[in-house]
Amino acid sequence: MQLRSCRLVACPVGPSPPFRPCPRCSAMLLAQLSDPHVDRTRPHKAAALRRAVAFVATLPQPPDAVLITGDCTDHGHPDEYDEFEAALEPLPMPVFVVPGNHDDRAELLSRRPPPGEACESFMQYVVENFPLRLIGLDTQWPGHGGGELCAQRLAWLDEVLSQAPARPTLLFMHHPPVQTGLQVLDDIGLRGHAEFCAVVAHHPQVVRVVAGHVHLPLTASFAHTTVMTCPGTDATFQPAWAQPDKLVIQYQPPLALLHRWTAEGGLTSFTAVPEAAPWVTLHDGQRWAD
Ligand SMILES: [Fe+2]
Repeated sequence: MQLRSCRLVACPVGPSPPFRPCPRCSAMLLAQLSDPHVDRTRPHKAAALRRAVAFVATLPQPPDAVLITGDCTDHGHPDEYDEFEAALEPLPMPVFVVPGNHDDRAELLSRRPPPGEACESFMQYVVENFPLRLIGLDTQWPGHGGGELCAQRLAWLDEVLSQAPARPTLLFMHHPPVQTGLQVLDDIGLRGHAEFCAVVAHHPQVVRVVAGHVHLPLTASFAHTTVMTCPGTDATFQPAWAQPDKLVIQYQPPLALLHRWTAEGGLTSFTAVPEAAPWVTLHDGQRWAD
């Protein structure tokens, strides 16, 4: 595969605060939310995002960072981004965002400048200050519901992965690079997924690829690693697999993903329903509760 060279752009906002591991377990925790589709005409979308944010903000181990994997707003209007940003205010930790097909890249970039080395012209960047290196990828293909990773973006990725081959790395993006088996969703899938797979295959330090877009909780093999998708903050789609040429779904409760990294155990991902619920001690360290 021939990859065009690209320009790396220095970080415009300076370094983030240093990582402070959990004193009890030395783990790094990431929360992933996706596809809030904030829309001024449908206030339940922003309300669902605020509930998901409240869930993340009150976890007993606060995540070290939050990933939002695109479609932050439904129409890319500035007033929708105002509401999106207001919903995120309770989060004290860094929030890293990549654009989806419903977003306005320039509007999103103006509010969320890349926190690290970035790919010129795209919202694609590296986050260096955690034990798990994070790379956000910009799959937006303006004017299309589907996404793409063009030669420029893939060359940039290959270059930044080559800079740190010993650092475990998580890639986060909007369009997943795998098919769902549902025609309507696969028609708006990722152009360039085979070339992306070839790049990832050259970099064994990539421990996970996480995405959004399909509103499904999908897990699939990809190169040597695994792709996972996080459903939307307002609902999870449960599709009718018997009608793969249509998109017939049940609305189910929203899901978030929690990705826990330790140097010894690697990356383990958990699925959570981001709604308030009481904490119950089932085992106190000595015995099970009655
Ligand atoms: Fe999308």
